[in-house]
Amino acid sequence: MLNIQYLGHSCFMLDDGTHRLLFDPFISGNPMAEAIDIKSLMPHYILVSHGHGDHIGDSVEIAHQSNAKIICNYEVGQWLHKRGITQTHEVNYGGKLNFDFGFVKIVNAVHSSMLPDETYGGNPLGFLINIAGKNIYYAGDTGLTMDMKLIPLWCKLDVAILPLGNTFTMDIDDAVIASNFIECNEIIGMHYDTFQPIKINHEEARQKFADAGKKLKLLWVGESIKVDSGQ
Ligand code: NI
Ligand code: MN
Repeated sequence: MLNIQYLGHSCFMLDDGTHRLLFDPFISGNPMAEAIDIKSLMPHYILVSHGHGDHIGDSVEIAHQSNAKIICNYEVGQWLHKRGITQTHEVNYGGKLNFDFGFVKIVNAVHSSMLPDETYGGNPLGFLINIAGKNIYYAGDTGLTMDMKLIPLWCKLDVAILPLGNTFTMDIDDAVIASNFIECNEIIGMHYDTFQPIKINHEEARQKFADAGKKLKLLWVGESIKVDSGQ
């Protein structure tokens, strides 16, 4: 059984009961995530898709308190080392790494990356994660890209977490096309509503996915869903 909890913006916690993976923990600067207590987050791994402040977020603080290992690219890893984070696992496109919970494969994300102090952040990442026998695609910040068609060659997805807030990432229409490219019917949205330029109409978004024969979940901050047997 896999539990997926939404912590606002692009932040999720995946928990298989033994291992906790935290993605892009942008909490203290997120007005929609005020109910989340950063000190309560004790992940084993933090996956950082890219250096932008709304993704690296509270990674340093949470890594210090939890002793979590951070999975990120080389440039973000170097930046973290200068902030006293020694436990990093640095990766880049094409890498597929086995962990005690399953695997993480690094896939393309079409975006940019700079750290909050304007240090170059390397290439933005997307992640394919195998955990609890499930395959999850966490797209990071990305536009629609033909590279998404590679994903079904690597694994059959159970759930995809896609950005759909427009302006900085895919919009709803492109996210529907992406869900076709990746051959996944169970979609969780991210990177919407946090700021004015990425506000979306939830009903319109759900309807567009439903019209394509797919299910879109837009979780409340703090809400969890369970992923059980494959679709
Ligand atoms: Ni970004
Ligand atoms: Mn972003």
